[in-house]
Amino acid sequence: MLLHSFTIFILIFYSCIGFSFGFIHIVPGIASYIYEGLKCSFQICCNENEIPAKFDVLETSLKNNIYGQPLVQDTLSKALKSHWKKDFKPSKALTISFHGGPGVGKNYVSKFIQEALFKDGMKSPHVHNFIARLDFPEASQVDVYKKNLANWIKGNVTRCPKQLFIFDEVNNMPSGVLDVLKPFMDYVDYINGISYKEVIFLLLSNTGYHIINEYTYELWKQGIKREELKLSHFEKIVAKGAFNEKGGFLMADIIKRNLVDHYIPFLPLMEEHLVLCVRKEFEIRGILNPSLEDIRKVLEFIDWGPEPNKIFSKTGCKRISQKVGLLSI
Ligand SMILES: *[C@@H]1O[C@H](CO)[C@@H](O)[C@H](O)[C@H]1NC(C)=O
Repeated sequence: MLLHSFTIFILIFYSCIGFSFGFIHIVPGIASYIYEGLKCSFQICCNENEIPAKFDVLETSLKNNIYGQPLVQDTLSKALKSHWKKDFKPSKALTISFHGGPGVGKNYVSKFIQEALFKDGMKSPHVHNFIARLDFPEASQVDVYKKNLANWIKGNVTRCPKQLFIFDEVNNMPSGVLDVLKPFMDYVDYINGISYKEVIFLLLSNTGYHIINEYTYELWKQGIKREELKLSHFEKIVAKGAFNEKGGFLMADIIKRNLVDHYIPFLPLMEEHLVLCVRKEFEIRGILNPSLEDIRKVLEFIDWGPEPNKIFSKTGCKRISQKVGLLSI
């Protein structure tokens, strides 16, 4: 606020000098500074205050709240950080695709990204959340959706180059919609004078989760720990699976043209991870040492699979919060 009053003061001050003494040539030098300041006070701000990009906060949130996802911990923050590194010019917009079953943390992680990168988190004018079933419900409207999306991306990036576009439930999206993103994600310097290279696209879906789960199961049977898994183990099978599965990725240009930079698999969760989720939920409610009995009661609600070992929760940590809620009042 102080800064804004100050800029306005300067503006008036220099205008006065400019006009009374004819020193109008002083004005352009500070004009851009003033212009930025005024833009901030009257419309949308596009600076470090508004987009602080706190990657250390993101890393802490992931470490404290996301369980059993070493691949997410290892890759995500690094990928985002290198994209927005000071003085680094990315060669294309960053596109990350999260894949995994229900309750494994995809939305949670997306929320942490929004909160760490933008001052106002998901309410930031630079953060755009789309949910397939709400925003793109009709297959017959694909052309309308595409037109709107292209306009919104252009409009927002023109105002500020650092934007985050999140598409949730891509598996429920009519196929074809994502193709509109292609030019914005590509290795193109400018489209009509605008660069889209600082933009981040985040795609969330359960597409390919059967493959991820089966593969994790196979590795588990071979005695390989999930901490030892590598992103490269999964990327190809996930991309290939996504391309052929019904939904938003079906035959998608962005996959065909390798415009997705990282496919990040979210692995199915085991009992040890669920126990951590349960403990966290008790902790949120002020109970630091829940009894084993209470933890067991919550876990009784969980369905496990696959046969015969039944080591994975079919719904991840979904609904655990509500079940803990029942026990903690
Ligand atoms: C920015 O994106 C939002 C959707 O998140 C849209 O409603 C708005 O019109 C866009 N702004 C511009 C200037 O295009």
